[in-house]
Amino acid sequence: NDDQFKKVISHAKEYGYVFQSSEIYDGLSAVYDYAQNGAELKKNIRDYWWKAMVQMHDNIVGIDAAIFMHPTTWKASGHVDAFNDPLIDNKDSKKRYRADVLVEDYCAKIEAKINKEVKKAEKRFGDAFNKEEFLSTNGRVLGYQEKIDTILKRLGQSLEKEDLADVKALIEELEIACPLSGSRNWTDVKQFNLMFGTKLGASADSAMDLYLRPETAQGIFVNFLNVQKTGRMKIPFGIAQTGKAFRNEIVARQFIFRMREFEQMEMQFFIKPGTQKKWFDYWKETRLKWHLSLGMGEDNYRFHDHEKLAHYADAATDIEFNFPFGFKELEGIHSRTDFDLKQHEEFSGKKLQYFDHEEKASYTPYVLETSIGLDRMFLAVFSKALVEEELENNTTRTVLKLPAVLAPTKAAILPLVKKDGLPDVAKKIVDDLKWDFNVDYDEKDAVGRRYRRQDANGTPFCITVDHDTLEDNTVTIRHRDTMEQKRVKIEDLKAIIKAEVDV
Ligand code: GAP
Repeated sequence: NDDQFKKVISHAKEYGYVFQSSEIYDGLSAVYDYAQNGAELKKNIRDYWWKAMVQMHDNIVGIDAAIFMHPTTWKASGHVDAFNDPLIDNKDSKKRYRADVLVEDYCAKIEAKINKEVKKAEKRFGDAFNKEEFLSTNGRVLGYQEKIDTILKRLGQSLEKEDLADVKALIEELEIACPLSGSRNWTDVKQFNLMFGTKLGASADSAMDLYLRPETAQGIFVNFLNVQKTGRMKIPFGIAQTGKAFRNEIVARQFIFRMREFEQMEMQFFIKPGTQKKWFDYWKETRLKWHLSLGMGEDNYRFHDHEKLAHYADAATDIEFNFPFGFKELEGIHSRTDFDLKQHEEFSGKKLQYFDHEEKASYTPYVLETSIGLDRMFLAVFSKALVEEELENNTTRTVLKLPAVLAPTKAAILPLVKKDGLPDVAKKIVDDLKWDFNVDYDEKDAVGRRYRRQDANGTPFCITVDHDTLEDNTVTIRHRDTMEQKRVKIEDLKAIIKAEVDV
């Protein structure tokens, strides 16, 4: 799976999807640029989300709030006081770690021991080896597993109680039991705020300290009443938005999974207090359905209900996805109660209440939130799509099986040869289709090579113009996934492509 992940990263670069930011200056850690194909894929994911959330729901509207917000926003939201990660420094190596991630690394090391036992047993028992049975009966493996469970439980409890001394003690014990960093000289664990600070205004004394928003949600909360009144929205209703968020993440790894500058797609759904359980279940189901509609395999998703809740939530679950490095959070669904609106009322001195005409009473609405990282969704789609297939003639092909609706280029138009007027006909097809779809023209190399190139690029259709086209106005359309080829009329192309790429 490490190998698969490396392939994902290099494919993303080689085919113009994702580049390291400022690469000519050796890059900036945990910051990435989307390239020509990546920008299209990202836009298509964003549009797919927007369509499902805003266009298809009568009672959800979209906004686009500024990244800069009044600094009091972040005091009210709790981010100034509570948006922290526990940090620990190694005094010898001068390396800085996120304490909870470091503990997970130790657990991964123990897990590697389990894998070693499995490999050994596999070798010994050969075909008779049953992995599941081995994992559930082998004493040594069970011991390791129990150790991992105990460590993670203790970590969770210590973090919840903010017992940072115990987190340090845990790391010291682990370093003795299974050395990882090679040094036992640690500082105390400290809380580190993840928000980026900046300044508004030119002169040093009048400049205002600001933060780059660490979530888009607050732009929605502070606009709640503006939108409700101008849109004459009736509860229950939602406000959606997509946009950049910034977090000074300490552990920069796993490519675009955890970035310092990233994009969120969030929706806050305003409801009557007391109905949050119903809406929590509704949005869990609705969001999972959205994911499954992309056809990336039901088994690749699971819910993870939170025991440790963020400072604003009374219930929370993650939709986890099976990334190349295992199941990890892709989207969060949070029941945020009236925490945010009440806090903003208190800090701004303005009422943020809703008058319910049926009940003839005012109240502060409760909020149900769905929050997904666009970059993380990109990684989910991209890593699942990338496959290497064995073909019948014993060769392999690399194909990026992106859902057609998300693919950057919907069709490539290929003249079989560069002469006899075939390029002209192909270019005419391009000119006709480009009003409806992103299409590509490619005349370089043998047609087989061009097919492979488009496969690796994720293009769902290749359309080949040959000499017969000049006679009967038909072309060959080749399907990326099945590699099936069909002869169709040029005039039917638009409808054929539309049927697959439209939702
Ligand atoms: N408004 C709620 C909120 O921000 P969160 O769980 O902190 O909740 C929501 O973030 C989603 O944003 C996550 O599920 C993840 O997909 C994405 N996300 C969070 N931090 C990220 C990071 N550093 N890089 C990329 N995506 C991130």
